[in-house]
Amino acid sequence: MSDAAAIVQGKESEFAVPTGVFAETVTSVEHYTDRLFKFRITRPASFRFRSGEFVMIGLPNAEKPVYRAYSIASPSWDEEIEFFSIKVQDGPLTEHLQKIQVGDTILMRKKPTGTLVNDALLPGKRVYMFSTGTGIAPFASLIRDPETYEKFDEVILTHTCREVCELKYGQELVAEILNDPLVGEMANGRLRHYCSVTREDYEFKGRITDLMESGKLFSDLGVPPINPEEDRGMICGSMAMLNDTKETLEGFGLVEGANNKPATFVVERAFVD
Ligand code: A2P
Repeated sequence: MSDAAAIVQGKESEFAVPTGVFAETVTSVEHYTDRLFKFRITRPASFRFRSGEFVMIGLPNAEKPVYRAYSIASPSWDEEIEFFSIKVQDGPLTEHLQKIQVGDTILMRKKPTGTLVNDALLPGKRVYMFSTGTGIAPFASLIRDPETYEKFDEVILTHTCREVCELKYGQELVAEILNDPLVGEMANGRLRHYCSVTREDYEFKGRITDLMESGKLFSDLGVPPINPEEDRGMICGSMAMLNDTKETLEGFGLVEGANNKPATFVVERAFVD
């Protein structure tokens, strides 16, 4: 049910859905670690977004629900909406959100927005998607969108987490994409997934900024160092990661763009506190 005036039958009481908000149903929940989980909800027929955008979501558990920005992890053609979330102890939203189950209601504001979209980048040979933790979410959307492969020859998704177990969502996703009948054909040989870990032993170790500055990222991938003629960048992670990665890309001569002024890299903060 998605009407503004609709009433949601909550667990404890009825909840009047505010204007400008969709009330959608949870269709699946998967927990990866004690800090990370994924969930999917029904998609309202009238809801349109560009792959890479975010929306505000909340729960019908209070008279004035708490809303937080969540990147949509599913592509714009998908019939459901997927989110990948952190669990924050005592976090005003995630404290409750981490307990959701299939059949529960999620509130979603009707207007999506964001700068991690293909439109905000100039065409190029290669697009790098730099993510840490749940910052992989908007890229989970973009790497499933055929438009990304129409615009770029190569798509390099980097994902850095503290521990190996936190890489699982991205690893399963990329494996699924490569076997997908629709996107698999486009992604095969062109989508590359580079994982690194900072607080455990792993084949690839270190922060993405350090791996770029030492040149290890490029030698591991067998590509030339980032240059503004060929390469484009998208960044999503914590505020500190965004600032440092932005500085690194600027060091390679890339320039920050926006929806109304496409350039060679874009940035979005996608963390829920
Ligand atoms: P580190 O373990 O060295 O802090 P978090 O969960 O804290 O957001 O971190 C997710 C990943 O992002 C971790 O691997 C972390 O590395 C890395 N990270 C944190 N801050 C930065 C930064 N300023 N630049 C690059 N990577 C960062």
